Amino acid sequence: MSRTAYVNGAYVPNDMAFVHIDDRGYQFADGVYEVVSVIDGKMIDEEPHLDRLWRSMGELRMTEPVTRSALKLISKQLLQKNRLKNALLYIQVSRGVAKRDHAFPQGDLRSSLVMTCRRFDFGAVRERAKTGIKVSSQPDIRWGRCDIKATALLPNVLAKQAAKEAGAFEAILVDADGNVTEGSSTSVWMVDKNGTLVTRPLKDNILPGITRATLIELAEKHQIRIEERAFSIEEAKAAKEMFLTSATSCAMPIVELDGSAISDGKPGSVATKLVELYWDFAGK
Ligand code: PDD
Repeated sequence: MSRTAYVNGAYVPNDMAFVHIDDRGYQFADGVYEVVSVIDGKMIDEEPHLDRLWRSMGELRMTEPVTRSALKLISKQLLQKNRLKNALLYIQVSRGVAKRDHAFPQGDLRSSLVMTCRRFDFGAVRERAKTGIKVSSQPDIRWGRCDIKATALLPNVLAKQAAKEAGAFEAILVDADGNVTEGSSTSVWMVDKNGTLVTRPLKDNILPGITRATLIELAEKHQIRIEERAFSIEEAKAAKEMFLTSATSCAMPIVELDGSAISDGKPGSVATKLVELYWDFAGK
């Protein structure tokens, strides 16, 4: 069965789905996006993902391409048309099509909406969480508004590629002060020497992860002590545990950073507990 995409009002076969060459998303990465996981037919954290999409559009003064309820309907129809129950749903909004000029085009510009979905094996993610993953630290060379989920991902792409070439699954981004910001496409966590769960506070230098927010709620509900503070890459290396979260990785233990084992090189007890809590929450 060929895949179906949604492009500006029409459902089209994936290989016939095109955007205009003057689309500002294509020319300037003047666009925002969301990735939503769909597990056993359930869109995980749909509302917070849409809240963040609308916030990203607002911060960049983009017009909404469709209403929020229309977007929800398109999501549902797209999954049905692709007959997918375990999938990643990709939503991208760009400022629209206009003659190339850096400043915003004058007048009303219709933003572009592209949505795609693809089958995703969450069982494999859950399996991987049993052994954990390796990560590699990379300099954070991104811009000053990482709180906006923008499609301008070149620094993230370069960091992830460098990590891959170092034999790691994810890049851990480190700022000029030597502190961990986040992963190239994940939120980063550690369990410090006192057993406290630590993650960086939300500012303009990291994305407010939806999985991060869910995990904070789950941790609080289960009396796991949590602190939002900056931590250095050195502290992370000496941490009891490390893990990351995202829509695609869910909650994923980290067992090695830059070639050194985290603790005994096995997923820690807090991370393992949170992985289970997350899968219970996601209904799997
Ligand atoms: N990435 N930090 C960054 C830089 C991200 O790109 C992402 C998500 C996250 C985690 O956010 P969430 O929990 O809402 O998925 C943190 C998506 C999955 C992606 O770009 O594919």
